Amino acid sequence: MAKDVIETIRERASIREYKSQEIPEETLHKILEAAHLAPSAGNIQPWEFFVIKNQAKIEELAKVAYGQEWMAEAPVVVVVCTNPELSAAKYGQRGEELYALQDASAAIENMLLAAEGYDLGSCWVGAFDEEKVKEVLDLSAKLIPLAFVTIGYSQGDKEEVRPQKELDEVITIIN
Ligand SMILES: Cc1cc2nc3c(=O)[nH]c(=O)nc-3n(C[C@H](O)[C@H](O)[C@H](O)COP(=O)(O)O)c2cc1C
Repeated sequence: MAKDVIETIRERASIREYKSQEIPEETLHKILEAAHLAPSAGNIQPWEFFVIKNQAKIEELAKVAYGQEWMAEAPVVVVVCTNPELSAAKYGQRGEELYALQDASAAIENMLLAAEGYDLGSCWVGAFDEEKVKEVLDLSAKLIPLAFVTIGYSQGDKEEVRPQKELDEVITIIN
């Protein structure tokens, strides 16, 4: 039974240490489905997900993520890509430069929350050499790899609660 959405949002945190335990296929499928259910401008759904389970490939991805070796412990890494041409066809420059990225980001967040909902840890990894990722995965030139999402059962305790800005600092209410 998955957790309530508010509890899930509160409990999600980046996890960078994983057990080697495999993720059940059905759970992984549900996490990917959650990503695919994200909102997108004009419902274009410009995302593509590359689900990497091969250990050697995951190690290659960790290398092109500027040596974030911890990634290699994750049993699954999902490389989230977007196809800006699809958004550009309907929305021009705004679609290409903004919506295609926003849409895929919404999918990424859904994935993180779904993972937490199934008691799995995850981390959004954005620091990598884009060109090298394209080479490692032999990606179509149309695709931009936006993020790696590492997923696996968390090893050990959650890291300390991260410092949050005060809510008042980031809210402006206009009555
Ligand atoms: C766009 C983006 C890029 C990120 N890139 C990395 C990364 O390359 N490596 C990493 O360990 N964490 C990365 N993170 C995770 C953040 O460090 C993390 O979300 C932040 O410190 C807040 O912690 P929390 O996720 O536990 O709330 C990234 C997060 C986002 C949203």
